[in-house]
Amino acid sequence: MKRALGCCYYPEHWPREIWAEDAARMAEAGLTWVRIGEFAWSRLEPSPGDYRFEWLDEAIETLGAAGLKVVLGTPTATPPRWMIERHPDMLAVDAEGRPRGFGSRRHYDFSHEGYKAECARIVTELARRYGRNRHVAAWQTDNEYGCHDTVISWSDAARQAFRQWLRNRYPGAGNDGDIEALNTAWGNVFWSMEYRDFDEIALPNLTVTEPNPSHSLDFRRFSSDQVVAFNLLQAEIIRAYSDAPIAHNYMGKETRFDHFAVGADLDIASWDSYPLGFLEDRIEREAGYKRRFARQGDADFQAFHHDLYRAVGRGRMWIMEQQPGPVNWAPYNPLPLPGMVRLWTWEAFAHGAEVVSYFRWRQAPMAQEQMHAGLLRPDSAEAPGLAEARAVAAEIAEAPEVMQAQAPVAIVFDYDADFAWTVQPHGRGLDYFWLVFDTYRALRALGQSIDILPPGTRDFSGYRLVAVPGMMHMPDDLKSALAASEAVVVIGPRSAARDATMRIPVPLPPALPGLDVTVARVETIRPDMPLGLEKGGAAIGYREVLEGGAAVLARTEAGEAVLVGTDKLHYLGAWLDQPGLRRVMAGLCDAAGLETLDLPDGVRLRETGTERFWFNYDSEAHEVAGRHLGPVSVVREAVARKDQALPRQGFPGAWNAGA
Ligand code: GAL
Repeated sequence: MKRALGCCYYPEHWPREIWAEDAARMAEAGLTWVRIGEFAWSRLEPSPGDYRFEWLDEAIETLGAAGLKVVLGTPTATPPRWMIERHPDMLAVDAEGRPRGFGSRRHYDFSHEGYKAECARIVTELARRYGRNRHVAAWQTDNEYGCHDTVISWSDAARQAFRQWLRNRYPGAGNDGDIEALNTAWGNVFWSMEYRDFDEIALPNLTVTEPNPSHSLDFRRFSSDQVVAFNLLQAEIIRAYSDAPIAHNYMGKETRFDHFAVGADLDIASWDSYPLGFLEDRIEREAGYKRRFARQGDADFQAFHHDLYRAVGRGRMWIMEQQPGPVNWAPYNPLPLPGMVRLWTWEAFAHGAEVVSYFRWRQAPMAQEQMHAGLLRPDSAEAPGLAEARAVAAEIAEAPEVMQAQAPVAIVFDYDADFAWTVQPHGRGLDYFWLVFDTYRALRALGQSIDILPPGTRDFSGYRLVAVPGMMHMPDDLKSALAASEAVVVIGPRSAARDATMRIPVPLPPALPGLDVTVARVETIRPDMPLGLEKGGAAIGYREVLEGGAAVLARTEAGEAVLVGTDKLHYLGAWLDQPGLRRVMAGLCDAAGLETLDLPDGVRLRETGTERFWFNYDSEAHEVAGRHLGPVSVVREAVARKDQALPRQGFPGAWNAGA
């Protein structure tokens, strides 16, 4: 596979007279892909049924004539104003019961049948017209499902659909569903919450105190399934008219729908990578860390998503939107350090991206994203990101074909577990995503390359170490597959803690075959009460009291078991801080026969089948494993096969300042 670059372009924002020049400049810079169309509904259909495709025909032709391949987006994230006249109840409703208004984007409800029919109609028109267009080489469905907190809607449409979903989940005779099965599964005898009929069930908002967690968990699962169905509707229509691959552009730390389930209906998982926005907006770290990486981003956050979405795309992953300069939407929006756009791009390639596409071609002089950089300034002069993109284009032209390889380490990621943690965090700040991410960070600091695996994985062959943190519900066949695998396995904390309906199972968790350990009690702990571990590091936030005969491999200072295990199967009974996690994971790597490094913050390593990449996010140079890594630098090495030791090659020039 050859790597490629692209950009996001909005021909509808610019006079036609400059399209050809824009296209020529994109091609000249070495871009080969261009994504268009995803917000253009009001120009494609200014009033109901009045289709205006002629401008899009010309835009596609102009871009294609310059040698660019087009990703055509469906415009369903931005229903035009007239749509609200036709479907006044299509607006999603917030948890307080207020409809979300027109005037930005994503103002639709995934459960609204009328809106879904409108989407099917416009997607059919587009697919019919462009399905065989020689320049349309890929599709994007909608845009960033879930962005601006839009997965969950507390609407009448959602309530009706949820009741039907519940009937199907708790089936009875005919189509009616078995209300007693639901009452039992949810434990509704508690607080007299029993229902006589599915039509009595409301959404789990506006209750006096917290709703039943089983009710909330099912509502989250339902909301996720609505996204899956919405996406599938579009994918099926596009497939009927086109052979081009279909992608969706996912987000950073968006866990309100099951991306594996959406991804199963698509060909490519793409995602939108905004490292500086993420650091300020999504990542909770001390001020000193944020200051140090304010112009670079977090060295694990992008990598985590590359690895996650590579799994969602069953090996096919793109960056549909790559930050090219400052964004507009985080609390602070600094300029990236010179070299970072190039570094982010190479990092994506190192993790398997086929295409990295910058958002956006030209900065918009109008509307909500005026303060968002593009590759060009609003006056069409080059912004700094373009030179870096051009440099990468030259480098990938020289680079060898990519060969992906299975990583030695795997972490299982389960969106359903995220739903369960969200419903029942049991302590402030306890969040499944961050638990998994902390595990990932510790392993990366040890120099590991990691695959993220979907929860349905049962074949772990080829992996030396597998971690399954926080997977609240673990099906028995997954437990058996892990216990039987050849890998060193570490399960927990809080894995297998609930059954599928959110009950505490008996026998008590984790009930692992071949490991005598029981979680007897759990506690959540204040941030200012960490429990020190015997050999350094601490349990933070959440920990379990473990009982049983399994060998104790790590303890608190007070002598309580934290990690137990055999030589293969382990259970970790606490959320550990980075020093603690690093130490535990280093021991497990050792048991798995994996060599470890001790990498400083900002320095990371990633191996593919043929290459090893070193990334230094830091503005300081580092000496690591006998290498000098300059400030903000990428070093690519050919991976030495057993018999042929190949020389290291850094990248030339200013990009590797100091290297
Ligand atoms: C993404 C979105 C784009 C644009 C971008 C700005 O979330 O898909 O349309 O808004 O953010 O950073």
